[in-house]
Amino acid sequence: MPAFIETQFPIARLSAEAYKERKANNSQTLTRLGKWWGRKPLILVRASILGMLMPASDNPKKDREIFLKILTMDDDGTWQRCKGEIPAAAWREAAPPEIRDEYFGARGFKQGMTDEEKEEVCTQIWESLDDADRKDLDDQRRRPIPNRADFDELHYAERIKHCDRPENVSGPCEAAWVEINAHLAATASSLTELVEQLGKRTFGHTPRVGDCFCGGGSIPFEAARIGCQAFGSDLNPVAGLLTWASLNLLGGGKEVQEEVMRVQAKVLEVADRQVTEWGIEHNEQGERADAFLYCVEVKPEGCDYYIPLAPSWLIGEKSKVVARWHRIAGSDRLQPEIVTVDDAELKLYKDKKGATVIDSRVVDPFDPNRSWSIEALRGPEGLRRWTNEDVVPRPGDVFQERLYCIRWVKMVMRNSKQKEVRRYSAPNTLDLTREAKVLQLLRERFSEWQREGYIPSKAIPEHGAETDRLFRERGWPFWHHLFTPRQLLTHGLLAEISANITSQKESKAACLLGLGRMADWNARLSAWMFHKGNEKGNQVFYNQALNCHFNYSVRPLPKLEDTFSILGEASPESFGQRAKIIISDARDLHDTCDLWVTDPPYADAVNYHELGDFFLAWYDKQLAKAFPEWTPDARAELAVRGNGEDFRRSMVEIYRNLARNMPDNGLQMVMFTHQNPSVWADLGMILWAAGLKATAAWTISTETEAAGIKKGNYVQGTVCLVLRKRIGNEPGFLDEVYPLVEDEVKRQIASMQALDEGGEPNFNDADYQLAAYAAALKVLTHYATLDGRDVEHEVFAVRDRNQKSDFQIVIERALGIACDTLIPKGLDNSWRDLSLVEHYYLRALDIESRGERRKGMYEELARGFGVTNITPLLKSDKANGARMHTPSGLGTASMKDEGGRMNKAGMNKASMKDEGGSMKKGRNTHTSSFIIHPFASSPLRHLLFAVRETCAADNSPEPGRQYLRDTFGQGYWGQRERFIALLEWVAALSNAVGMNEWVDDSEAARILAGRLRNDHA
Ligand SMILES: C[S@@+](CC[C@H](N)C(=O)[O-])C[C@H]1O[C@@H](n2cnc3c(N)ncnc32)[C@H](O)[C@@H]1O
Repeated sequence: MPAFIETQFPIARLSAEAYKERKANNSQTLTRLGKWWGRKPLILVRASILGMLMPASDNPKKDREIFLKILTMDDDGTWQRCKGEIPAAAWREAAPPEIRDEYFGARGFKQGMTDEEKEEVCTQIWESLDDADRKDLDDQRRRPIPNRADFDELHYAERIKHCDRPENVSGPCEAAWVEINAHLAATASSLTELVEQLGKRTFGHTPRVGDCFCGGGSIPFEAARIGCQAFGSDLNPVAGLLTWASLNLLGGGKEVQEEVMRVQAKVLEVADRQVTEWGIEHNEQGERADAFLYCVEVKPEGCDYYIPLAPSWLIGEKSKVVARWHRIAGSDRLQPEIVTVDDAELKLYKDKKGATVIDSRVVDPFDPNRSWSIEALRGPEGLRRWTNEDVVPRPGDVFQERLYCIRWVKMVMRNSKQKEVRRYSAPNTLDLTREAKVLQLLRERFSEWQREGYIPSKAIPEHGAETDRLFRERGWPFWHHLFTPRQLLTHGLLAEISANITSQKESKAACLLGLGRMADWNARLSAWMFHKGNEKGNQVFYNQALNCHFNYSVRPLPKLEDTFSILGEASPESFGQRAKIIISDARDLHDTCDLWVTDPPYADAVNYHELGDFFLAWYDKQLAKAFPEWTPDARAELAVRGNGEDFRRSMVEIYRNLARNMPDNGLQMVMFTHQNPSVWADLGMILWAAGLKATAAWTISTETEAAGIKKGNYVQGTVCLVLRKRIGNEPGFLDEVYPLVEDEVKRQIASMQALDEGGEPNFNDADYQLAAYAAALKVLTHYATLDGRDVEHEVFAVRDRNQKSDFQIVIERALGIACDTLIPKGLDNSWRDLSLVEHYYLRALDIESRGERRKGMYEELARGFGVTNITPLLKSDKANGARMHTPSGLGTASMKDEGGRMNKAGMNKASMKDEGGSMKKGRNTHTSSFIIHPFASSPLRHLLFAVRETCAADNSPEPGRQYLRDTFGQGYWGQRERFIALLEWVAALSNAVGMNEWVDDSEAARILAGRLRNDHA
């Protein structure tokens, strides 16, 4: 019996939920533990596991209904999750005075705050309240759409904007369980019970779910949370720590969490006492520093002063503060002045007034015509490499460093209320003395702290894609060079106290993660952000690179408290005991799982081993103490990466190992994020060679714009490929395979269309195309050999760059079949007689009218129809704004002959047609060459020209009709019915949302259709 996920998957709703989860930024469940790249949304993991466990019945509609109920994604479930929002006025009432004054006006939030800022403020307020006050606040929730019928009317994505995420409610309600149990012959009243019962039915025990690339832990975490036995492993111990913590801290139960929070609070308290005693963050006016701003400075040849570097000297857009630089007689150091400016001046600074770094050049602040290339300043030999003991630049180094601004805070009483007052100022002599003290305190401890592992001592690996720039741009060969003395002193102090205060594994792990988070938010790579509402230091990993900045911020201890404390509040859930986490190369695993859900590192999207080292440098010796069984090394040489032969070999080995460690009735899901068919073919072959066969594939939109994973045309979502073990050794033959692929593609598309009937569409064009690939994979991977050649041979065969494997050819053919099968509504009767390029134009318009704007989809479609040049047909080829030309827009563009002359209609002659459907160079009777496009002479193109003529004649159909009769002669009568159908289809286009540009041409098409209908010989 197939699993639910092998027959269908609620793609549209899941994509909406995954998007919502991603948009939650810092309130995503696992992000607070620390940074990992490409974490999979928990809702996708939950749905995937349940979809693999739930059997499909012979009633797909009922299956879907029940599946959605289990996920609380059905109509009742979403209503149940729609608890409504707490009004801003209620937040205001509950807010502590300083937050209220800063962020609220008389009625609600201050104007201009973003949703994210509001969310952050609400979190701060929530955290400041006790249980009783929280309950009072929660009771004030108001459903934004009080009426159930109105709520159900909303599009799903709109609806869930007002809902809690499925993971934040207690699961289906009692009534839903009655229906779920009836359909699945179960007796469950919770997800855990259901999972247990479904697992026992198929595998004889609670299902065991494994992930051998567990990364940030989403898969094992969610598997254990819904009741599975979870197994997670990763090569990288940083990933191991995150996954372990997700299960044993977040899933460790209230008692564990309370102890962890107690220990972390104690560490901070002791550190605060020490920092205060040292006197390195307080000044003589009773203020405490709240941000230190540093910059690099350089003295170019021929310049007699050091130029402080920054791409902007704006410090705060909201506070209107900027830095200005002045020369001092007799000194080669400039003097900063921190001033508040008026709006006009602020605008100038926003437009980079005074910027000393522009387009990779250092600009003299007093003579903008003088500039030096940064690369040249680094010198022909490059920068001096710092030694281990260097924590600041040495005199004589090209790049120096200086503190140029401090933000101070103080609490004052205003109108009998406590208020926080902030001010920015340039450092004075006493501040610089404190800086010197910081350096001295660090130097006194440096060796011992490195020995104990409280601060990093590891060298940065050479020749890395990400790390090389650290040597080149700053001369930093050790990880601790990425931190200022103040950062090393604060972080080292917290590390030392943590190590001495607790011996309990959970608290040690929490403190290590806290240090990792501090490293991410407080490093020489933390750029200063001056934007409104954002006057603070940025995260190092705001993207997946190690970027060096010329000005950056350092956080004092109070600004690190929240970062260090990895748990927000205690939750009673306890499921860590259901999981096992190990550190291992995926090739070496021996643990058996019923379901493997994996998200392999693919095609170098993220250099995990390099980026992970940034954190590992901080964990190092302390990690080895907490987890003596783990190798505290990223073992870069074993990391799966790239997409060449090494990559393929590792992947085949790994997936073969997983197939070995899985029962015959087990299932696998492989998640990846490419839509390019050559990548599909590659991955398909890898999994095929590993002894697996594909049974389904679905794509879920998991990436938000800001997610940072490759954006653009290719990566739009996560493809979830479902696989089983291939049992048996059946041989396959290409000539037999093609008809089977055709049948399977058609069957798959028909079943998806049937599910879409009469409801909110679940599948879009990309899904249908993907389904075609999957159908081809299904057929191909069923066989052990193809035309006598074994798969492994095919996977590793050496090919020219443009040479395709048989596998790839079959996969591409499948797309062609899908394209032929998917006929735009209303064109069924005319479709058969149209050429491929005409099919392309109409299908592209069809997807445009359904809101598709991704250029990649238009290209993919072109591949399916064998059209190699779509440029002349596209009005816009923006990555996310692709649109087709309208008839009027098409005009004569790109379809003229060399002289720009046209035949009567502005079209090339039929004899110029390129048979292959591709663009072809040819020669006309004139001397120069010209390029014609197959669309230029197609009947559809003539018809569109007739529409344009109609439109141009103020909707008089005569010129258009006459043009068609002239062009087609007697053939006109044979084509008339088809023309009318096509014109009626074009006439309806402007009714679709976002197709306003078609209004005039659609109207002309409608009028011309009417004229043709009444035409007589
Ligand atoms: C795409 S990430 C997984 C992300 C994860 N699914 C999540 O939700 O956070 C791929 C992971 O594979 C790991 N990896 C790379 N090579 C490996 C190997 N040979 N064995 C085990 N893990 C490996 C990387 O360290 C990385 O964490």
